[in-house]
Amino acid sequence: MRYGELNPPNRILLGPGPSNVHPAVLRAMSSPLVGHLDPYFMELMDDVMELLRETFLTRNKVCFPISGTGMAGMEAAIVNMVQPGDEVIVGSNGFFGQRMVEIVRRCQGKPIEVPGEWGRAIDPSKVEDALSNSKADLVCIVHAETSTGVLQPLDEIARITRAHDALLLVDAVTSLSGCELRVDEMGIDVCYSGSQKCLNCPPGLAPITFNERAMERVRNRRAKVQSWYLDVSLIEKYWSEGRAYHHTAPISMIYALREALRIVVGEGLEERWRRHQRNRDALIRGIEEMGLGMFPPEHRCPTLNAISIPEGVDDAKVRGFLLERFNIEIGSGLGPLKGKIWRVGLMGINSSEQNVILFLGALERALRAAGFRVKGSGARAAIEAYSERG
Ligand SMILES: Cc1ncc(COP(=O)(O)O)c(C=O)c1O
Repeated sequence: MRYGELNPPNRILLGPGPSNVHPAVLRAMSSPLVGHLDPYFMELMDDVMELLRETFLTRNKVCFPISGTGMAGMEAAIVNMVQPGDEVIVGSNGFFGQRMVEIVRRCQGKPIEVPGEWGRAIDPSKVEDALSNSKADLVCIVHAETSTGVLQPLDEIARITRAHDALLLVDAVTSLSGCELRVDEMGIDVCYSGSQKCLNCPPGLAPITFNERAMERVRNRRAKVQSWYLDVSLIEKYWSEGRAYHHTAPISMIYALREALRIVVGEGLEERWRRHQRNRDALIRGIEEMGLGMFPPEHRCPTLNAISIPEGVDDAKVRGFLLERFNIEIGSGLGPLKGKIWRVGLMGINSSEQNVILFLGALERALRAAGFRVKGSGARAAIEAYSERG
């Protein structure tokens, strides 16, 4: 045999995603397949929709996973909401905001970018100006900008958007179940995520939800949604009582998502959000103790921690050291932040005391090997932070 049995290394995935898969999710994925119209699968689809509603905190009828990665969620959200000629406001302060701009353009919409410095949140007053000075009635914004580690406050932007009778579309790929997100209460009209971040599933599904206002807009479109596969009105028919065939659902991934959501809801969202904050706080204590700094000055995302790379330290060497010696993956910077930041994901089960202390110790070792004079022990500072809380 030319090829040996598949045997990938068992990494600690502390990059920007994917995160490690929960063992119960892996077990679920190896369960026997049923057909995608099997009565058992139909019940499972109901479970998934209900669990997703509990996770997005919404009562929306349209709430299911798109078969595709987070980008399919982004594309599904935009392609259904935007028609040729529509003006669309997009917060553009990072890599994923810029992708939204590109997708709006491909839908022949006219993106009106509200620019923001990478590493800073979008200023709500700029969203207000853009709404006042355009015909736009849709605002697109990234909640957790994975490229910069900024968690965008949404309340004020949601209030302004509603006051202008516009709709709010939110990317929650890196925030769903790790950061406070209340779709209905916050006034979010369309929201999507990805399976491979805080849900601890493999990549491959994009949970999405549209409220009635958004669906009304889809139903009243002048032109058909140009993507057949991502047309939410067609997918909705498969996820409603009639279960009209649309495409063959990725059965094992739906098993995975069902288990992942069961675990999320079992822990409780608020406890989960607090856990992510607690571990982020301890990580920052450790980072600062070592003489390093966080990249965003404020609005730091608990699930994606962007650390500034100190002058003279080789980005790739440190990441390589962590991978080879400690089996830990972290991410590099994207676009203009390449070589300037490390991106450390603490997502879902990976947001743990164990991982924070291990990572800080491993980073100290890697930095010393790279010739950087580490100021103090990050691991000890984190242990102190945890001990203070008991
Ligand atoms: C904020 C955000 N949006 C969208 C995506 C795209 O998701 P995917 O890579 O699963 O297609 C990502 C992926 O990292 C992301 O972080």
